[in-house]
Amino acid sequence: MRHIHIVGIGAGNPEHLTVQAINALNAVDVIFIPSKGAAKSELADVRREICQRYVANPATRYVEYEVPSRQTADRSYMQSVDEWHDAISATYERLFLDHLTESQSAGFLVWGDPGLYDSTLRILERVARGKVALDYSVVPGITSIQALTASHRIPLNLVGKPVQITTGRRLAESFPGIAETAVVMLDGEQAFSKIDDPDAYIYWGAYLGTKDEIIIAGRLADVSERIVETRAEARTRHGWIMDIYLMRKGQDFDDLA
Ligand SMILES: C[S@@+](CC[C@H](N)C(=O)[O-])C[C@H]1O[C@@H](n2cnc3c(N)ncnc32)[C@H](O)[C@@H]1O
Repeated sequence: MRHIHIVGIGAGNPEHLTVQAINALNAVDVIFIPSKGAAKSELADVRREICQRYVANPATRYVEYEVPSRQTADRSYMQSVDEWHDAISATYERLFLDHLTESQSAGFLVWGDPGLYDSTLRILERVARGKVALDYSVVPGITSIQALTASHRIPLNLVGKPVQITTGRRLAESFPGIAETAVVMLDGEQAFSKIDDPDAYIYWGAYLGTKDEIIIAGRLADVSERIVETRAEARTRHGWIMDIYLMRKGQDFDDLA
């Protein structure tokens, strides 16, 4: 049966790769690399660099493919994601049929960790329900959350407290209020700038782990505008941006007082 390794590659620094990831990449017959668009081409470069640095198997084949883009017109968000996953499943199915015999294996290099805001696993599950018999396994990777907290030298959680992971679209539902720590990913609208709380802190990072990394931290009211401006300028310069931030209210042990 075809075997697909879904390999977490970390969040931008090739040195995030684990020994388990390196061993998996060296064991497969084919490595599939997504390419297309400004962001995709820089991300494809990181993937190529990882392969150059770590894949020593001369028999490995590399196959580049175009990721279908998500159609948003006249659909709800959920409908558009569902259709998009169907389109990617069809692309994967084609890749497996065209480039793997029934006993061969392949690897996908997944940004960060495959379990965090990534749909490769869901899509593989769809493909596995179809006509191509396959099995798959997962190698965990360093997430952008870990890259963020490491760069800011902060713990993710307050002592004994929970953490919420959310998106920009949903930040206002939980912070401040339910969550004392919220990590926000996939935020194209700078949801932090709409939070009006004098006691909130923000730890923001863009292009983490890469040579272009930018980090800013401080009281939200003091640094919000600087983050919005820095983000806009960096996005224009690069043609794309990937950013993440942690919002915090409260301090360790403050409920002992
Ligand atoms: C589709 S999710 C993928 C998350 C990934 N699986 C992980 O484990 O971090 C993409 C989001 O992750 C965050 N992200 C990923 N890599 C990043 C990086 N190097 N710097 C800043 N944010 C990053 C951003 O919030 C981006 O919008």
